Amino acid sequence: MKTVDVLWNAAPRGLKPADGEVHVFSAPLDIPAERVDELASWLSHDEWQRASRFHLERDRRRFVAGRGTLREILSALLGINPRRLAFSYGEYGKPQIAAPAAARSLHFNLAHSDFIAVYAVAKHALGVDVERIRAMDDAEQIAERFFSPREKLCLRALPPEQRAEGFFNCWTRKEACLKAIGSGLDDCLDRIEVSLAPGEAAELLGVPNGSRSWRLHSLTPAAEFVGALAIKPEDSLVNCWKWVGPD
Ligand SMILES: CC(C)(COP(=O)(O)OP(=O)(O)OC[C@H]1O[C@@H](n2cnc3c(N)ncnc32)[C@H](O)[C@@H]1OP(=O)(O)O)[C@@H](O)C(=O)NCCC(=O)NCCS
Repeated sequence: MKTVDVLWNAAPRGLKPADGEVHVFSAPLDIPAERVDELASWLSHDEWQRASRFHLERDRRRFVAGRGTLREILSALLGINPRRLAFSYGEYGKPQIAAPAAARSLHFNLAHSDFIAVYAVAKHALGVDVERIRAMDDAEQIAERFFSPREKLCLRALPPEQRAEGFFNCWTRKEACLKAIGSGLDDCLDRIEVSLAPGEAAELLGVPNGSRSWRLHSLTPAAEFVGALAIKPEDSLVNCWKWVGPD
């Protein structure tokens, strides 16, 4: 299991999106009730409807915290009120900024796992994923279905104590690519080939048509979590921050 000290500094005030830069933020989803209430006050009608469909109160609060924090981060970067943001959705559900119109050129993506959310923002399209490293009963079946022959070989060659981390390296890197492209799961998951061995650089080894232009970065937003970021080569500087609020 991965246990590392995570060195993501608190995001400074006045951060602005800049050419060639990606800002990645990690934020907690289990937060005090007053903070959830504040974030909840910014959500749109459709976000409230989604929140109301969760069966478990904990999941509803995490969804509200995740969407509220998304609005808080984007509004801080754009210098606007979080309520002014409206989102639209691609064919497979990828959210993007619809309003205000001047902000449409800003790209973002987010992912959540357990009590952590990760947000990535840049001037070009991008995708992010995060997972808590854990033992999974169906890991072998998932690898059999979604991993390429080369990835399966690499996973099996790992010592048993590194397999969970290798599995989630592979999963998050593939998902980050899919989320960058904005496509559905069935769309070429086994044709996106990635490196997975713990300690090795995140690399895109094989790609389906038209997605050759992505670069992968690995992320460690917290101990025992792995994440991946798929970005355009133009965005070469990746800054990782802890989101502690706009002030
Ligand atoms: C929807 C999907 C993009 C990610 O789902 P997920 O892993 O459950 O969730 P994540 O935490 O990574 O991401 C969720 C966020 O991604 C965004 N998102 C949704 N659909 C998206 C899409 N098609 N492309 C990019 N981003 C998307 C949303 O912001 C969503 O969060 P929100 O609705 O709470 O704001 C999709 O790839 C999926 O269904 N994955 C299933 C997981 C799986 O079996 N993976 C096998 C990998 S080997």
